[in-house]
Amino acid sequence: MENDYIEEIRQKSDIVELIGSAVNLRRRGSRYVGLCPFHVEKTPSFSVTPSMGLYHCFGCGAGGDIFSFLMEYENMTFPEAVLYLAERYGVDIPKNAHYSNSSDRERQRKVLEANKDAANYFYTRLFTYDGKKALEYFYKRGLSGDTIKKFGLGYSTKYTDDLYKYIKKKGYPDDILKDTGLFIYDEKRGTSDRFFNRVMFPILDGAGHVIAFGGRVLGDGLPKYINTPETGSFDKSKTVFALNHARKSGRKGLILCEGYMDVISLHQAGIDSAVASMGTSLTAGHAGILSKYCDQVYICYDSDEAGRKASFRAIPILRSRGIIPYVLDMSPYKDPDELIKSEGKEAFEERIRTCKNALNFQEEYIKEDYDINDPGEKTLFLKEMSKILSGFDDRLERENYVKDIALRYGVDFETLKREVNIIGETLREKTEGFYPKKKQKAPETAGIDKAQNAVLTAILERPNILGQVEKYISPDEFTEDIYRKIAGELFTLIEKGEKDLSKLLSSLESDEDRKKASEIFQGEDFSEMNGEELGKALKENILKIKRNGIELMEASHDLNGFNDLINKKNEIKRMEKERIVV
Ligand code: CTP
Ligand code: MN
Repeated sequence: MENDYIEEIRQKSDIVELIGSAVNLRRRGSRYVGLCPFHVEKTPSFSVTPSMGLYHCFGCGAGGDIFSFLMEYENMTFPEAVLYLAERYGVDIPKNAHYSNSSDRERQRKVLEANKDAANYFYTRLFTYDGKKALEYFYKRGLSGDTIKKFGLGYSTKYTDDLYKYIKKKGYPDDILKDTGLFIYDEKRGTSDRFFNRVMFPILDGAGHVIAFGGRVLGDGLPKYINTPETGSFDKSKTVFALNHARKSGRKGLILCEGYMDVISLHQAGIDSAVASMGTSLTAGHAGILSKYCDQVYICYDSDEAGRKASFRAIPILRSRGIIPYVLDMSPYKDPDELIKSEGKEAFEERIRTCKNALNFQEEYIKEDYDINDPGEKTLFLKEMSKILSGFDDRLERENYVKDIALRYGVDFETLKREVNIIGETLREKTEGFYPKKKQKAPETAGIDKAQNAVLTAILERPNILGQVEKYISPDEFTEDIYRKIAGELFTLIEKGEKDLSKLLSSLESDEDRKKASEIFQGEDFSEMNGEELGKALKENILKIKRNGIELMEASHDLNGFNDLINKKNEIKRMEKERIVV
């Protein structure tokens, strides 16, 4: 159980009012819907359930309660969210309150705070005598004062302990500072700054915390870039630069660049959906993050051979996470930064309009290695293409592409199709489970969750139907612990005559459970149904849950449960003949 004042805050706060001040919400039945603030979308898939105090997005899977909303959206820590809500909704909290958050969280918060202080310090250095050359460097590269501010760019001075001295004065202990990666601890030489005499690019996570830095030399020296090493909060393979800005863009898809300067130039020109994967090698981790925010990605790497090769490698990684990739060609310019500077925003937009779909790009890229007029080489080329085609999971899509290639290269459609399917089967066997697919579940499980969500949501919306529902199903018949737990709590609260069902949330221990709850209570909306329709829908869904329960019992071959099994089967038979009247 949570602290009393947390529960009181939950009760007194108004989630529709709170989220409504950030998101335009419209009433739909017993819920409110709007455009999700956590990913780029055009049609609303974000929904708020006031009776439970939860929000959920079907698009990106974001979800939780008032506290998690503030933590995610406003970038607050848990204690900050508590204080903010207590103030806003007039709840007194004890002075020495401890916020049931672990000391790990607290450490993490301090590390991020130190990073933020460092970013601010670097920024202010730009406007000192020493920093003049750094500021001029940015100006020379075409950045405006506003852009420098928006991205929090800065300068680390030529003194090798400048930052360390500054940050120590702020009172941070070394064990926290060690975790920032900003300093080099050496037993003999003492502690020094990792970054000095470099222009600084702070790297923020999607929620806007400063998690790392990239530092570039001002001229042509080497190494060109130094980055924060991997720390508890920074994993290069999972960090997407500028996502904190791009996720708020209303543009279609994200534009994936190579470097900091590409992204910053594009944003300055008004193309505010640009991000970078910190160098050229895109990982499945990056793709997983991108897939939370968009369905399409425009790869916009350098136009040189290295960039084209990197694009070629990124395509299947993006596809594996359910993203549709496109490839933008920047030639004759080296990169988007150059193109934008030479030809401006419109020219870039034109490249987007006329861009290649990724398959075309792959085809041309592979073709460069083969002489299509030579029958042997043409076969090898088609085998390479078959490998790519076999990666399309959707049969219709795959066949359309196979047809297109067969036609253009003058080979028999059926033969090519067979080749593609055979390769597909062998590759799948080898890589099964290697790239988990986006939001995928075994089909039956997905169906059963839907049924369980529907029943629980219906009860939440109309608590007075519980008496009827209970005749047919008990909490322990739900599958998975979290469902059993939530059903149990919900049934008990209603039986006790509790009006505020959001009390259920305080019985859940983790953010993860609350997130799951946000998904569960977004089940099918029955609020507009009449009694008869609702009764029918309930019957159908409850039967589904019960039949699934039987399948699970049978699959477990538990002989002790034999009688139980017979009873359950009879219950189902009985129920099939009955009508639920609500
Ligand atoms: N990068 C990095 N570490 C390196 C080299 C590169 O993190 N040692 C990342 C940086 O994010 C960089 C990107 O890879 O922005 C692309 O590298 P590069 O093409 O070398 O730099 P540019 O971004 O083109 O830099 P500039 O335009 O300033 O020359
Ligand atoms: Mn580059």
